[in-house]
Amino acid sequence: MNNIHPTNIYLTRDDKEQYLKQKAKVIWITGLSGSGKSTLAHGLERKLAEKGYLTQVLDGDNIRTGINNNLGFTAEDRNENIRRIAEINKLFINCGIITINAFISPTNEIRQMAKDIIGEDNFIEVFMDTSFETCTKRDPKGLYKKALAGEIKNFTGLDAPFDKPEKADIIIDTDQLNIEEGVQKAYEYVKAAVRW
Ligand code: ADX
Repeated sequence: MNNIHPTNIYLTRDDKEQYLKQKAKVIWITGLSGSGKSTLAHGLERKLAEKGYLTQVLDGDNIRTGINNNLGFTAEDRNENIRRIAEINKLFINCGIITINAFISPTNEIRQMAKDIIGEDNFIEVFMDTSFETCTKRDPKGLYKKALAGEIKNFTGLDAPFDKPEKADIIIDTDQLNIEEGVQKAYEYVKAAVRW
């Protein structure tokens, strides 16, 4: 039996990291809706790509419209949303790819679940520190206006919780930093972690 499946026929994460000349990591960006998570994710991806790194951004645009299009915003659905996303991250990690996630992931508990699934050593937590007031003013999708008018239930920061992460590896204060400066700050940290 052992001869049929010798272990060395399986390519490992190490093999793939060697092939890609990078260390696989999960960059996990948490923050309120409209805090700038996806903007940071795509900016960071571009910066890493310029240096030759292979990445994948996961955000509402490609997850909530696809694999998770049966989930809403109750605590239970958010939990399942993040659980599936964390499992997807594991697959990318084993492929040697740097994954950049942009999800509200609103509670300490939900982020801890993601960390447990993905593995703490693989996990870089980024907090988009943008206040509820600023997000309400920006309101890029018009959702705050609707939520404040009572048209959306379980809205994060309003009638659903958001716990500020206590020990994020990177904090992006968007009142202090513009987009490029935020991307640069995240990149400076991430580049040391993904360098082969
Ligand atoms: S999470 O809480 O489960 O992590 P996720 O990041 O996937 O949330 O989705 C958040 C996005 O869904 C928001 O940026 C916003 O565009 C949209 N959205 C729709 N309804 C809600 C709601 N009730 N609370 C927060 N975001 C919502």
